[in-house]
Amino acid sequence: MALQKPDRILIVDDEADIAAILKLHLEDSGYLTAWAGNGEAALEMLKDGGYSLVLMDIRMPGMNGVTVLNRIREAGLDAAVIMMTAHGNEDLAVECMQSGAVDYFSKPFSLDDMLQRVERAIANRNTLLEKQRLEQEKEDFFFMLSHDLKNPITVVVGSIDIMREGRLGPVNPEQVEYLQSAIDSCNEVVAMIDNLLDVQRFESGRMPVVIRPYQPEALAAAAVERFSKSAEYEEIELTLDTDGDSTEVAVDRNLLNRVFANLLVNAIKFTPSGGSITVSCRCVRNSASHRIRIPVHVASPAGFAHRNCFVRISIKDTGNGIPHEDLDHIFDRFTQSHNAFGREKGGAGLGLAFCKMAVESFNGIIWAESEAGAGSEFIILLPCYPGNSRCDKHTSETHP
Ligand SMILES: Nc1ncnc2c1ncn2[C@@H]1O[C@H](COP(=O)(O)OP(=O)(O)OP(=O)(O)O)[C@@H](O)[C@H]1O
Ligand SMILES: [Mg+2]
Repeated sequence: MALQKPDRILIVDDEADIAAILKLHLEDSGYLTAWAGNGEAALEMLKDGGYSLVLMDIRMPGMNGVTVLNRIREAGLDAAVIMMTAHGNEDLAVECMQSGAVDYFSKPFSLDDMLQRVERAIANRNTLLEKQRLEQEKEDFFFMLSHDLKNPITVVVGSIDIMREGRLGPVNPEQVEYLQSAIDSCNEVVAMIDNLLDVQRFESGRMPVVIRPYQPEALAAAAVERFSKSAEYEEIELTLDTDGDSTEVAVDRNLLNRVFANLLVNAIKFTPSGGSITVSCRCVRNSASHRIRIPVHVASPAGFAHRNCFVRISIKDTGNGIPHEDLDHIFDRFTQSHNAFGREKGGAGLGLAFCKMAVESFNGIIWAESEAGAGSEFIILLPCYPGNSRCDKHTSETHP
């Protein structure tokens, strides 16, 4: 087992006898120390790195401790800094903590107290560095996913597609079917990677969301069109049920398209042959006398329930359904329900987590309703874009 290297502490104090006492006690406690008699020397020594902690006097001739602290922070040096101040100068020390010092103690100090503060500052710094290291590893992993894994799959799909189209020589219908199923599987992997990357982007607050007014009905119709072949292949009837409404909602078009894709892939995946899927899109009015129904367990943004108009999107299937106790959890990352098909249908349990984050980024809400064995319905409510004057004329979904 590799031995852990002792932490190095830089003592910055113009008083040599205080520095000597600190050195003695810190080295007795297993630390390595070095001494700088003034601020300029300290900055020079810190340039080479390797110090976990700086113990710094505030009052020094020439550059004082506050200036040295600011220079350390400006240079982005990662050593923790504890300030040492003369008794009565605590206000200045507190100011230093606002500028990035992690702690301070007043002279004369108790050696036990000083050692405890040093130990705590070093432990906190090491925890922070470890957290940063793990964050970096996570970043590297996601970079690897999007570049080293996704790019080659895209090349594979492109190459198979050229073969499937017969551009490299004749292919018979059976071969076309095999090549198409290879492409579908690759696309599933790409979709899974995209969901993973997007969930990570949402969580780290780095998801670019471009909100513009769009007619959801047009996007729903396009999604139904895109998935009509897959549904037909699975012998599932896929229909669009809209009322020709042109009400707009404020969404990111690409993200909403991917929400539709995830919900339709699920519906097709969990509905046996002979079943049906209906995608509907309606503008619904919401007023004091006709309140729209939002299940109590679904959290919504402040004031949401009192907006006067929504677009209600629903993707309803006649599939195997979701047990009641799983309905709240299926929107969590990596969560799959133990329904009739279980994990044999593959997937990572990320699609709905992505859908929830995307819908919430449009200030909307999404939830599922289902009875095990009796189909599922995924419902999205999006506030109508301001200025949709037609909203008042539309149907209302009310509860008594
Ligand atoms: N229409 C549906 N009918 C029945 N169960 C569903 C339906 N949609 C989702 N589920 C259940 O919710 C779970 C989570 O869905 P989600 O889309 O997040 O993950 P997945 O489809 O299993 O994998 P991924 O989307 O990452 O490929 C599914 O595994 C399934 O158990
Ligand atoms: Mg899914």
